[in-house]
Amino acid sequence: MTDPTPTVTDPTPTDRTPTERITAALPGTSVVRIAGVGKTFGTESGGVRALEGIDLTIAQGEFVSLIGPSGCGKSTLLRLIGDLTAPTAGSIEVNGKPARRARLDRDYGMVFQAPVLMDWRTVAKNIELPLEVMGFAREERQKRSGELLKLVELEGFAGRHPWQLSGGMQQRVAIARALAFDPKLLLMDEPFGALDEMTRERMNLELMQIWQRTRTTVVFVTHSIPEAVFLSTRVVVMSARPGRIAKIVDIDLPQPRNVETREQERYFELVTEVREALRRREGGEGQLAPPDADRIRAEGLA
Ligand SMILES: Nc1ncnc2c1ncn2[C@@H]1O[C@H](COP(=O)(O)OP(=O)(O)OP(=O)(O)O)[C@@H](O)[C@H]1O
Ligand SMILES: [Mg+2]
Repeated sequence: MTDPTPTVTDPTPTDRTPTERITAALPGTSVVRIAGVGKTFGTESGGVRALEGIDLTIAQGEFVSLIGPSGCGKSTLLRLIGDLTAPTAGSIEVNGKPARRARLDRDYGMVFQAPVLMDWRTVAKNIELPLEVMGFAREERQKRSGELLKLVELEGFAGRHPWQLSGGMQQRVAIARALAFDPKLLLMDEPFGALDEMTRERMNLELMQIWQRTRTTVVFVTHSIPEAVFLSTRVVVMSARPGRIAKIVDIDLPQPRNVETREQERYFELVTEVREALRRREGGEGQLAPPDADRIRAEGLA
């Protein structure tokens, strides 16, 4: 994860999107390859077609957000990449191998909406848990958790318990734990959904910095258009019933992003582009989950 930032050297960028240029400059570095994937859940009253015809390739070092109406299959797609569920059609490769193999090799870390920490373990011991399970020696575990606490700016909190931390701090512990194995891929399902607006924006900035430092590829599920645009190199807009990719928006905002990013003209243009793609595909059928629809309205973005 110490790879330098990919350098884009393509001299003829005119007809290519930024992501295509990165992919072209770094052949063979795709971390996720999803081809013709469908997922139907069997129920007694018939199947639920959650996803259909999903094709998506994610290059090393990308930050890709999945956004779409509630129930469109975002979590399912993330779970498919993480091999927590199997596709009913198509194939998924992670790091050039089947998703199952990648899971067994611990090629990725996962972060969920609720931090899922163990209250009786200290912060350091929560971060060390996956290393403990894998039988790493004590000194090695402590060294690693020390590094990770520094990365998420929680030095000095090693001996505290999760219940002594704020929600944002707990989520940072969960992110540190997901990074324990130095994964090439981080899968995040609405990790900041439960946080207040101010904390969420701060966490966005911190995640940006972690991403820039580690160069980990991230697949990030969110309901928030501003969050998706601020964080991502690409935003995948999904439509519901069955879930499909409606549009992929390249986010060409300069890196590194910071507090000023959210004030740029281009930022607002991209927020509008994603919002319109969502509206078009919803066609009055699907809706954003109510809390987020409220939030987007409150921010004057709709
Ligand atoms: N284990 C399951 N069994 C049956 N149906 C499921 C299962 N998991 C998901 N589904 C269905 O698949 C569809 C997609 O669900 P999913 O949780 O992926 O949506 P989502 O986009 O993450 O929604 P939200 O934004 O509300 O989190 C929904 O219709 C859901 O009811
Ligand atoms: Mg979900």
